[in-house]
Parts: sequence; structure tokens; C-alpha cells
Amino acid sequence: MTTVASEHVDIYDPDWYVHGDVHATLADLRETDPVHWQEMPSGPGYWAVLRHADVVHVARHPEVFSAWLGSVVLEDLDEATLDQMRHMLLVMDPPQHTQYRQPLAPHFGARVIGRMEEQIRNRCRAILEAAGERGEVDYCHDVAGPLPAQIIGEIMGLPPEDTDQIQRWAEVQTSGQDDEVTGGYEGNAAVEMAMYGIALAAERRGQPPREDITSLILESTFEDGEKMSDLDFGSFFVQLVTAGNDTTKTMMSSGTYELVRHPDQLQALRDDYSLIPAAVEEMLRYCNPLHYFRRTATQDVELGGKQIKAGDKIAMMYTSANRDPATFADPERFDITRSPNPHLSFGIGAHFCLGAHLARLEAKIFFEELLSTFRTIELAGEPARVRSNLNNGFKRMPVRLAH
Ligand code: HEM
Repeated sequence: MTTVASEHVDIYDPDWYVHGDVHATLADLRETDPVHWQEMPSGPGYWAVLRHADVVHVARHPEVFSAWLGSVVLEDLDEATLDQMRHMLLVMDPPQHTQYRQPLAPHFGARVIGRMEEQIRNRCRAILEAAGERGEVDYCHDVAGPLPAQIIGEIMGLPPEDTDQIQRWAEVQTSGQDDEVTGGYEGNAAVEMAMYGIALAAERRGQPPREDITSLILESTFEDGEKMSDLDFGSFFVQLVTAGNDTTKTMMSSGTYELVRHPDQLQALRDDYSLIPAAVEEMLRYCNPLHYFRRTATQDVELGGKQIKAGDKIAMMYTSANRDPATFADPERFDITRSPNPHLSFGIGAHFCLGAHLARLEAKIFFEELLSTFRTIELAGEPARVRSNLNNGFKRMPVRLAH
């Protein structure tokens, strides 16, 4: 039976993700009402899809559950914003999505990304060295944040002095529900970032190609022989920078938090670095950086015994799917040796995260360097969660590091 508390909880409320009993409530709902209707304060509510198998089903049927129709966040966007979003890979449906993704995918494959190992390791060492000198740091901003921002900057060939601005845009864009994070930011981060991307494309077209993803993308051609337009590049740029920054930062800060909370597993990892890739997968499962992505039904359809109507919003709730006992044994246990680990933190199906190889490599190198650099890693105060129903991470985490 759904408890009265679970029935009445507001799983849209961003505050609930900060203060609520999230996992216990989702476990209760997943059991009793796995496709759960949730009202929203403005506009129509949505169906929260809570079971692993149902999230996979939704993600694998874009003809029924469209990313394009209403974009991937729950808030309804005005037509102009929606039009702008639809230039992003994330918000396309097949066949357009396939056409755009195909020429990009090879640049994010395991072999190409693997060549970045040394670059990533050098960046990690510099960031950790600076953190070590300070001893006590805000782990989110001083340790986990700079690496993905610098790496994205580097693979796109951006001037290093722009990294901070880009990191800020990404943060404002993804944590818009938390006033402390946006900190009175007056501009429109997405538009400013897109303008930056468009200007970058225009500038680079007039120059000889370089060894970076910006050149590779600008040189790529679609099946019909056409190159990507500056506008499309601008949208892709926003997406790469936004998707690649905060999620990766969160994976590393939340992952470290769980290791600190589980000293036996931290020790096991210290004793055997070959466990790091599996540990990273468990961090991704247990602390999925994104709570959900949205789809919109293109037709009336039944899911989990509920009648979904054309136009209804659907949230694929990764936070719940990753702890579904039908898929994961002892799902509430953080276990760095878990295998298999079919978590959905990178999505599944046609939109499966394009940056997954990069994120995994960054995390692997980061934890190798972190553990070999510091003998002790401990919390120096209470961490603070981002107020968000989308971003599942910390905005602040005081940590003491010692050699
Ligand atoms: C731990 C880090 C990351 C997480 C948790 C994550 C999560 C996700 C998820 C859940 C999706 C699927 C969206 C859907 O089904 O609607 C996705 C797509 C995507 N991600 Fe990531 N991501 C991460 C890192 C990155 C990085 C580092 C990059 C860029 C270098 C990136 C670029 C993208 C792109 C371009 C897509 C769209 C793919 C498509 O629509 O075909 N992500 N990501």
C-alpha cells in the first residue's frame, strides 16, 4: 500500500530534493503507483515513471515518447525558447536526431577520447596540487568543478581565460531553481552561451582547421553533404558545455561523498585501483547527477496500467529507476563491486549520453589521482544540496585534504 505520506508528497517540489525522504518515498511509490501522476504549480502536471523497465521502454520508443515536442525539462517553454532548444541533439527525434548524431559520434568514441588520458591526468594533478596547498576546500568549486570545465574548454579549443565564464554559464543554466547558485545572475545564460558558440564558429571558419572538436565538427558533413550551420553549432556548443560540466562535477563530488561515508569501500579502492571503473559506475547509479529527463506522448498510450494521453508529459525518473529492486539486488546499498550495473544515469537508447566515455575517463583518472595524492579525505562541515528537481548534486561541500 502507498503510505499516506507518499501519496501526498510533492515530487516536483525542488525543496523536497533537499530536505525530503527521497529514496524511501520513491521506493514506496515505485511499488504501489509506478507511473505516478504529479501536479505542477503552473500548468499541467506530469507522469513520473519510476520503474527501471518502464524508463527503458519510454527511452526506447521516441515515436511515442518524443523529446522534440516539449523538450526535456518539465516546465513548458514558450515557442521561441522551444524553437531554440530544438537545434540541440538532446531535443531532436529520429530521423533528424540520427542525421545529426551520426557525424558527431565518432569524435566522442572510446578510442578518440582515450587519447586524452595524459591531458586529463595533467589537469587533475594541477587541480589537486592547488587544493592540497589549501588543505581545506569547497570540493564542488575548487576540486570537482574545474576539471570538466577545463577539459571541455580544451577539447573545444577555447581560450583558457574563458573557462570560468563558461563554467558559470553552465552552472546558472543547470541550477536555475536555486537562487543561491544563480546569485542574482541577470542575463540569459543559454542565449549568451549560444552567441559565444556562434561567434566561435564564425571565427574558426576563417582559420585553418585545428586539432580540436570544434574543427572536427565544423568540418563534418551530414549524409546530404551539407556542413553544420553556425546556428546549429551554437546550440550544440551550449549543450556540450552545459551537459559536460555540471553532471561530471556532480559525479565526482557526490562520488567522493559516498566514499567518505563508506570508509571500508574507500579503503578497498585504495588497496586496489583496478576497482575504480566499477566504483565509478556505482557512484553513477547511486548518485545519478540528473534526477530525470522528460518526454511528451505523441499519441494515447497505456503505461504501467495508466492511460497516458497525447500531449502528456512523462518524466523518466533515473533517481527511482537506479534503485529498482527488480533490476538491482539490495539497491539501497552502495557497493563499489556491483556487477552487472545497468544504471540509467547516462540515459539509454538513441539519446544515450554522447559524453559517457569522456565522463568515465575523467572520473577514473580523477579518483586514481585523488587517492594517490591524499592520505586523508574528510568532510570539514555539512555539505549543501542544490535546490533542484533536475540536478541531483551538491552546491557546497567543505572537505579537508591531507597528504
Ligand atoms: C557524469 C556525467 C554525465 C551524465 C550523468 C550525463 C547524462 C546524460 C543523459 C541522462 C543523457 C540522455 C538524455 C536523454 O535521454 O534525453 C545525456 C545525453 C547527452 N550528453 Fe551527457 N552526461 C554526462 C556527461 C556528459 C559530457 C562530459 C558530455 C560532453 C562532452 C555530454 C554530452 C551529452 C550530449 C551531447 C547528449 C545528447 C545525446 C543525444 O541526444 O543524442 N554528457 N547525458
